[in-house]
This record gives sequence, C-alpha cells and structure tokens, in this order.
Amino acid sequence: MTDLMKAVQINEFGDRSVLQLNEIAVPTPSENEVLIKIKSTSVNPVDWKIREGYLQGMLNHSLPLTLGWDVAGEIAAVGSAVTDLKVGDAVYSRPDVAKNGSYAEYMTVAADEVAIKPKSLSWQQAAGVPLAALTAWQTVYDAAQLSAGERILIHAGSGAVGQFAIQLAKLRGAYVYTTTSARNKELVLGLGADEVIDYKTEDFSELADLDVVFDTIGGETQDKSWKTLKKGGRLLSITQAPDEAMAAELGVSSAFCFVLPSAEQLTELAELADAGKLVVNIDSEFSLDQVAQAHERSETGRAQGKIIINVSE
Ligand SMILES: NC(=O)c1ccc[n+]([C@@H]2O[C@H](COP(=O)([O-])OP(=O)(O)OC[C@H]3O[C@@H](n4cnc5c(N)ncnc54)[C@H](OP(=O)(O)O)[C@@H]3O)[C@@H](O)[C@H]2O)c1
Repeated sequence: MTDLMKAVQINEFGDRSVLQLNEIAVPTPSENEVLIKIKSTSVNPVDWKIREGYLQGMLNHSLPLTLGWDVAGEIAAVGSAVTDLKVGDAVYSRPDVAKNGSYAEYMTVAADEVAIKPKSLSWQQAAGVPLAALTAWQTVYDAAQLSAGERILIHAGSGAVGQFAIQLAKLRGAYVYTTTSARNKELVLGLGADEVIDYKTEDFSELADLDVVFDTIGGETQDKSWKTLKKGGRLLSITQAPDEAMAAELGVSSAFCFVLPSAEQLTELAELADAGKLVVNIDSEFSLDQVAQAHERSETGRAQGKIIINVSE
C-alpha cells in the first residue's frame, strides 16, 4: 500500500469549481476505526449542500474537507481494539458526516458505523444504499413508527431516499401514495407504490386522513401536506424543520429527521437486499475525476436513483 492517495476535497466553500482532486496521505485508523479501501462511493444532495457552505451553522467542518458520505469497499487495516471486522472484509457504511468523507481511495471509519456489504449487490449498488436507505429507515420506521395498514404519502418517490422509503413502507404493510412526475410513474409503481400523484399536473393536497407524510421536499410541498393528515397523524421532514405551531393547531405530531450512522440498521438492510426485498436503482456513474459532473447531475434534482462514483476496481 502506498502512503499517498487521491481524494476530492474542498479548501473553500462554493460552486463546483472549488472541487479539487488532491494527493494526500492515506489516513491511519485509530484503535476503534477501520481503514477502508474504497471501491465505490455515492453522491447525496448533502455533499453539494456542504460544498456550497449551506450547512456551516449545523456542521463544524474544518478545511480542507474530503466530501462524500457513502462507502463500499474492502477493509485494508483495523485499529487495535477492533474485533468484529478483519482485513479483506467487504463492507459498506454511512460514515460520520462531520468528518472527512469518501471521495477518496481510502478512508477511516469508526468500526461501529461499518457493516458487512450485501453479498448480492455490486459495489456500485452497495455504495448507493447507506445514507439514503438509513434516512428512509430512520424516518419511516424509527420516527414515524409506521405500522401495517397505515396510509403514508412519500414525496419524491423517484428520488434516492423516496425509492427506499416506498420499499420499506411496503415491507411494513402500509398503503403508499407517492409524488413524482409522469416519466417516473412506472419506476415507483415497480417499487411497490400503490398510487402515484404527478406533482406537475395533479394536486396531492386533495388526499385526506393520512397517517403519515414523509416530506423530502420542504417549502410549499410541506405547507400543502399538513391538511392531508388525519388528527393524530405524523409529518416527518428531512429537508426543513416542520412548523410546530401548525402541528399543534391540527393535532398532529411532527419532527425533523437527520440521518445517523448505524451498523445494525445497515446489517438489516443488507439482509433485505440479499433476500431480494430491497432494490437499488442507479441513475448514473462517474469516476473520481468526474465529481463535478456527478454534483451537476445531483443538483438538477432530476436523478432517478443513486449517483455513483467508482473509485477502484
Ligand atoms: N435530513 C437528512 O438526514 C437527509 C438525508 C438524505 C437526504 N436528505 C435531503 O432529502 C432530499 C431528497 O434527497 P434524495 O437523495 O432523495 O434526492 P434526489 O435523489 O436528488 O431526488 C431527486 C428526485 O426528486 C424528484 N422531485 C423533485 N422535485 C419534486 C417535487 N416537487 N415533488 C415530487 N418529486 C420531486 C425528482 O423527480 P422528477 O424528476 O420527476 O421531478 C427526482 O426523481 C434532499 O434535499 C436531501 O438533501 C436529507
């Protein structure tokens, strides 16, 4: 193993022009960390939001910062206190977003944030799971506590988070409404959605008495979502803190969810994938020297699945 590696970093916040492909030292794992040789990583909207500096009030990053917080790869070294993972294990993770990320040939990750990769998924598919699927899991299962027979509206069912949310909600036995545009109708029906609302031509706010709304859009979409809930319903947003006064007035509950690392949940997601119960759709693939194009694709808001960056064979 060489001492130097390629990493895509920023040294200032800004548009895509601040992305730099640098050669930096391979990090050394501390006692509770593993070093992962990265095969593939993925782009999430949070990557370019952090690049732009939009999350500076929330996350205290120091620069230069390696972006990217999804990883699939092989363990290249383990810290002295790590007992349950070993060199050569095929793993995947959504690492701590406060630290250096995965647009690199190697990264160190806390061992308790790392799980064995789903065997049936390619490196690319596996890299597309952690951040988006954990977000869906933690919102639909942990925060909303969705149960069988409930009716949920999932906004942007064709997006990375939405695609996992539809599948997880169906596995729970819920009835799923989802918004997307006409071109994605077959895609979301294929994932199990029961009813599709074309947000460009139809008004989702005509729905009523829903148990749960999963807001992945914010703004006007969140504003119009309140009245679709029944009394006692739940509105969960991953883009914008919901209006607590509105929730109280309507007799519903609400919360903002921010995804956390979880090896346990990644292990459960891997089991679902290997049982053929969790599909991962890839929108597009790029290489480490094409991160700017990958961000450009994500910034369009039109992706139909995961945007993957291939790092090594
Ligand atoms: N809080 C957290 O922990 C957390 C975690 C993950 C993601 N997020 C946030 O959640 C949002 C979604 O993330 P993502 O990765 O799923 O995004 P994404 O994959 O980029 O979403 C793209 C999809 O959104 C659809 N879409 C866009 N506008 C829409 C609208 N008004 N109504 C319905 N569908 C619409 C698009 O379909 P069309 O092309 O048909 O418009 C497209 O398929 C982002 O803002 C992200 O930053 C937050």
